[in-house]
This record gives sequence, C-alpha cells and structure tokens, in this order.
Amino acid sequence: MIGDWIDIGPLSAIPSRGARTVPVAGGEEIAIFRTGDDAVYALVNRCPHKQGPLSQGIVHGHAVACPLHNWRINLASGEAIGDDKGCVPTIPAKVDAGRVLISRLHAVTSALAA
Ligand code: FES
Repeated sequence: MIGDWIDIGPLSAIPSRGARTVPVAGGEEIAIFRTGDDAVYALVNRCPHKQGPLSQGIVHGHAVACPLHNWRINLASGEAIGDDKGCVPTIPAKVDAGRVLISRLHAVTSALAA
C-alpha cells in the first residue's frame, strides 16, 4: 500500500558494495546496503557484537564485515555468520523505479526495539 514505504532516495546515491545511513527520529540509525548485484538491505546500524557501525564495513556478496572485529553479518537475516552468534534487526527494503524504499512500520518498530 502506498504510504507504507519511505522513499530514501535514488539507488545511485548508495555506492555499489557500500552503504549509507538514514537517521530515525527517536530511534537508532538505519544502514542501507547496496550489493554488487544491486540488491538493497536495511539493518539497524549496530553490530550484534559490540555495536560497531556496520555501514562502515565492507560488503562481500550479501554479507557485510563489521569494521571493528570483522564479524560477518548476513544482510538478509541480520544474523552473524559462522561461529559468531548474534542478530541485528532488519527492515524490509526494495528498489522501485530506481528509488530505494524501506518499510515505514518496520523502520519505526525496529528502531524502537533496538
Ligand atoms: S563490534 Fe562488530 S565485530 Fe565487534
């Protein structure tokens, strides 16, 4: 339904294999990732290990390596990969006509729950 998604700008504003951040009023910042094959994912910008800024990590495939201690986080699920255990809230995200959209409801509730 129109109105359930927040337009956060053009896909071209996010570097390939990189991220940009979106502030959330009263909540935690959200990181929007763009993979090499132009998929987008939105996660709370906080590593489940020690709150590292995931948006500054390096994207490999559909995962990001945290810049602090190199945990790898699955961008789709928010879960740590391998032996590491932890999960960061994810927010539904999509690209429509070259614009990046994130779920309004999930953005608010994930930020509040984080
Ligand atoms: S804070 Fe992300 S790996 Fe330690």
